Amino acid sequence: MKVVTVVAPVNIAVIKYWGKRDEELILPINDSISGTLSTDHMCAKTTIQASPLFQENRFWLNGKPQDFDNPRLNNCLKEVKRRAKPSCPILNWKLSICSENNFPTAAGLASSAAGYACLVSALAQLYEIDGDISSIARRGSGSACRSVYGGWVQWVKGESPTGEDSLAVQLAPASHWPEMRVIILVVSNETKKYSSTSGMKTSVETSQLLPYRAKEIVPKQVERMKRAIADKDFEAFARITMEDSNSFHAMCLDTFPPCVYMNDISHAIVDVVHTYNQLKSSNKVSYTFDAGPNACLYLLESEVEEFLSVINYVFPPRSGSIQDEYIKGSKVKQLPIQEELSRKFEFKVHKEGALKYIIYTKLGDGPKVLTDE
Ligand code: DP6
Repeated sequence: MKVVTVVAPVNIAVIKYWGKRDEELILPINDSISGTLSTDHMCAKTTIQASPLFQENRFWLNGKPQDFDNPRLNNCLKEVKRRAKPSCPILNWKLSICSENNFPTAAGLASSAAGYACLVSALAQLYEIDGDISSIARRGSGSACRSVYGGWVQWVKGESPTGEDSLAVQLAPASHWPEMRVIILVVSNETKKYSSTSGMKTSVETSQLLPYRAKEIVPKQVERMKRAIADKDFEAFARITMEDSNSFHAMCLDTFPPCVYMNDISHAIVDVVHTYNQLKSSNKVSYTFDAGPNACLYLLESEVEEFLSVINYVFPPRSGSIQDEYIKGSKVKQLPIQEELSRKFEFKVHKEGALKYIIYTKLGDGPKVLTDE
C-alpha cells in the first residue's frame, strides 16, 4: 500500500482565460495570469491510496462517491502514467482517491483549479514523475495549470496543436510582493448557473467580441500586467485587473444566450471600489470577478483596515453574526465601523447579510505534500 496526501491552492486570474482552441486537450485561445492564494484559508486536499489488493478504482469528492469514469480525471491519470518510469512498481495497482475543498464547490471560487492541481500533484508524487506537471493539470481543468505554482503565474497559451507548449510559468514568487492581500467577498455560496466549461464553449461559438479580445486586447494587457507585477506598480496592476474583469464580463454578455455571472451585489461592490478609489485619487483597491457573483479584491496591506471598515458599513453583517466569523482570516480584531468616513463617501447601505462572509488572505506557494508513505 502507498499513501500520498497533498494540499493545493486556489488561484485568482487577473487576466482571464475564457475560450478553448481545442476542447479535448484544453488549449486556450489566449494567455492568462493569476495570483496563487495561500492555502491557509482556501485549499483542496487530496489523499490517494494505491494498493495491489484493491479490486477497483474509487473516487470521492467532498465525502460523496463519484464515477471514476470521468474523462478529465482519466486524461490526467493516463498522462501521469505515461510519464512514469516503466519500472514504477505500482503502475497496475488500483487507486482510492479522496478529494475535498474547504470552500464552496462551483460557486465561482476556482474549486476545480485547486482540485485538479491537487489531484495531479498527488499522482505525480505517487508515480514519482519529474518535471513540469502544469500541462497535465491543464487536462483536468484549464485554470488548474496555474495552481501548480505559487505567487504570480502565467499560463502561456502555446502554439502547437498537440499542446506541449501550453504551460504555466511562474512570473514571481509570493515573496516578491509581500504586501499584496486578497479579500474575497462571498455574495453567494450557491452552485453557478452555467459552468465555465459550457459558458466558454458558447462564447467561442457566438461572441463576436471574443476573437477581438483574444487577439487585440489580451496580448497587450498581458505584457502590461507582467511589467506591473515585476515593478510592483499597484496603480497599473489594479487598473489592468479591473479592465480585464470588465472586458471578460462584457464578452460573457456578448455570448448568445448571455452568460450573466455578476448580480446586483457584484455591481454594488464595483461601485464601492470605484468611489473609494476616486476619493483616494488613485487605484488603491482592484476587483475581479470569475464565473460567479463573488468579488475577489486585490489590495495592499496598508489599505485593508480602512477598506474593510467601509465594506463593513456598506454591507453590514447579518445580525447575530460576530465580526470574527464574518471576516474569516482577518487579524483586524475589532474593526472600527467608520460611519463618519462612509457618510463622507456617501455609500448606500445595503440590507444586512447581503454578503455571506468575507475571506481575507494573501498570496502563497504551490501544492504541498503532507504525507508520502
Ligand atoms: C473565469 O478552468 O474552470 O475562472 O478549462 O473548462 O475547466 P475548464 O474551465 P475553468 O475556467 C476558468 C475560467 C475563469 C477564468 C480564469 O480562471 O482564468
